[in-house]
Amino acid sequence: MTTALREPQRVGALAGRLEAILAGRGIDPAADPIDVSDGPVTALELAAARIPARYQRAFADHPQVTAWVDEIARAARPGPSGTRGIALGPSLLLAGPTGTGKTHQAYGAVRSLLGAGVRLRWEAVNTPDLYARLRPRQGHDPERDLATLSRCPLLILDDLGAAKHSEWTEELTYRLIDRRYTERLPTLITTNLPIDALRGAVGDRVASRLAEMTQRVILTGPDRRRQPTA
Ligand SMILES: Nc1ncnc2c1ncn2[C@@H]1O[C@H](COP(=O)(O)OP(=O)(O)OP(=O)(O)O)[C@@H](O)[C@H]1O
Ligand SMILES: [Mg+2]
Repeated sequence: MTTALREPQRVGALAGRLEAILAGRGIDPAADPIDVSDGPVTALELAAARIPARYQRAFADHPQVTAWVDEIARAARPGPSGTRGIALGPSLLLAGPTGTGKTHQAYGAVRSLLGAGVRLRWEAVNTPDLYARLRPRQGHDPERDLATLSRCPLLILDDLGAAKHSEWTEELTYRLIDRRYTERLPTLITTNLPIDALRGAVGDRVASRLAEMTQRVILTGPDRRRQPTA
């Protein structure tokens, strides 16, 4: 007997085994394949799912923010699969009164980076929520949470200075900012406080690092939430 005669039998046996495995898993081998006509999900689509509903369409149009996006996108290194990764670089401190669009610009910047093809892992946290999250409680490891945020390639730290100040909040903020400062990890920080009041709210060591690591973006104008809609 030759190999040529054996081959069809071998293929038939394999097909039979495959059918038995599929049947065992409740899959009909004769059924139509899954429709994939919608095409692959883009990084922007995946990331968009994590952007809060309010800022899903946020568009960063402030010239300093768009310049920062360009700088980070240019510096982004290729990732393992050839796509572009996150760069080291400057951070932004978006300051201004309530409702002037600080958070909008921050999420808009993330959307622009994703749209530019920059593959980045990012996290966003509101500072009062951060302190609540890191408060010691049973069954929760705050150190792990802090490490994730400290090392994340891109972080939105929203509403810095909005929580009641204490030695404990100062130490946490210091550890978070110091790590990002040391590693030169891009961070989008927003605050309602005037720049010269920030030092009193976050402590001198955090303020000193922010002075070096951030470019200041001052937003002005009325509270957009209170603007009559056209
Ligand atoms: N450039 C913009 N174009 C359109 N809508 C905007 C723009 N900037 C902000 N908005 C809208 O204005 C409202 C307030 O914006 P946002 O929440 O970013 O303000 P904020 O400065 O972060 O306020 P707060 O200091 O209270 O956190 C939101 O509804 C937001 O979607
Ligand atoms: Mg905000």
